[in-house]
Amino acid sequence: MEKVIEEEKQGTTVQLNDKKENGRKLYIESYGCQMNFSDSEIVASILAKEGFNTTNTLEEADLVLVNTCSIREKAEQTVRKRLEKFNRVKERENPNMKVGVLGCMAERLKSKFLEEEKIVDMVVGPDAYKDLPNLVAEIDEGRDAVNVILSKEETYGDVAPVRLHSNGVTAFVSITRGCDNMCTFCVVPFTRGRERSRDPQSILEEIQDLVNKGFKEVTLLGQNVDSYLWYGGGLKKDFKKASPMAQATAVDFAKLLHIVAKAQPNLRVRFSTSNPQDISDDVLHAMAAHRNICNYIHLPVQSGSDRILKEMNRLHTRQEYMDLIDRIHDIIEDCAISQDMIAGFPTETEEDHQDTLSLMEYVKYDYGFMFAYSERPGTMAARKMEDDVPEEVKKRRLSEIIDVQRRTGLERAQYFVGKTVEVLIEKESKRSDQHWAGRNSQNYMTVFPKGNFKVGDFVMVKITDCTSATLIGEAVGYSDMTGPITIK
Ligand code: SAH
Ligand code: F3S
Repeated sequence: MEKVIEEEKQGTTVQLNDKKENGRKLYIESYGCQMNFSDSEIVASILAKEGFNTTNTLEEADLVLVNTCSIREKAEQTVRKRLEKFNRVKERENPNMKVGVLGCMAERLKSKFLEEEKIVDMVVGPDAYKDLPNLVAEIDEGRDAVNVILSKEETYGDVAPVRLHSNGVTAFVSITRGCDNMCTFCVVPFTRGRERSRDPQSILEEIQDLVNKGFKEVTLLGQNVDSYLWYGGGLKKDFKKASPMAQATAVDFAKLLHIVAKAQPNLRVRFSTSNPQDISDDVLHAMAAHRNICNYIHLPVQSGSDRILKEMNRLHTRQEYMDLIDRIHDIIEDCAISQDMIAGFPTETEEDHQDTLSLMEYVKYDYGFMFAYSERPGTMAARKMEDDVPEEVKKRRLSEIIDVQRRTGLERAQYFVGKTVEVLIEKESKRSDQHWAGRNSQNYMTVFPKGNFKVGDFVMVKITDCTSATLIGEAVGYSDMTGPITIK
């Protein structure tokens, strides 16, 4: 149950079609959140113009890049182990290979990385990828290179990413970068910088390009998409200083959803991640108004205890969250909701933990991503609070959280049995080459016999059975998704 889908992707490499004129080989491996996978596609695109073709073979790479994650200590340990592996390959088989670290760990450790890990030649933070041509030139001449400057503007809106983590049907489009929320446990505001939004025009252009290439679904991506705000460029926190004209014509997330859904009525639209304190009723109404916006909200809560929410600097109470859940169900028919939860935040008592379990019982989440608290250097929690919940207590609370999630997840999946749902076919089922796999609006993976359907089709599937994560059924025909947009 814990980040099942994401776990599979960890450490995946990108391989592009070779350009004949390119003579050098790039190996790029990615860890962490979807944003990192997206960023690697931007990096591969930038380096393709610098003479690099991609390879999946470490031993033949001229340049090895690893796009890193800092969210929990374990994520950083995984990267350290990979660097050891790169070191062995360099010593034994590929002495000329250069190694660069990208992403959140690069930003967190900066030039310390060069001291700590002899194998590393280059350290590049998440806002500095356009400087890669210069940085690569530096390391070509034998010097170490570092650029970890965070930017107020960079959204990579003008770099066309290459879609190689993709199945040709669904794609991610980033709309914001950075986060201003400062949850006390979280390293993201430090590694990804201040929050900024991308020009809606460039978002629409990227989406049009995806549609032209045959994509059928996009997920709008950001650390906190509900906070999206375009007023001509600049940091979210500077909005108040913008001209009255810029403020009056600003595009917020609800407007962006309307614009995208209307511009592409035959494209499914999803988004991630939502933050309870920032999601507005306008967003819920936009979801209800467009049938092509999927009925699914990833709405991390982290804890069900008011006291812990406050310590985490999550700017809402348990009751406000529960009211929000009620409004979601009032406004949107059959909306699935998923959570992120942290077990064992500093000072968490048994009573706080019980509050988390009872909140989960109230919401009946469809899925969840659940973690034991991991202290991150530099965060407010690390500076001000002692990591005082013993490891075995964290583990036990985490497993109790996972148990509730399994149960409510199964209950929610069972709701679909006997119903007919719309599924976008993404790929062959992993278990059987006779079955297709795709998601319904609520993001449940659904498998069914192939029939005459093909990847990219929208089909109606009658659900006959389920597990807690998968619906099983039979296709009964095409959906009318390719017809005119209907407003509920
Ligand atoms: N807004 C982001 C959240 C990024 S972090 C998004 O787009 O998803 C993803 C999840 O990791 C958080 O919601 C939180 O549940 C978990 N997390 C973050 N910092 C953590 C820490 N220090 N220890 C344990 N889990 C953490
Ligand atoms: Fe992290 Fe909280 Fe932002 S979890 S990414 S600081 S919303």
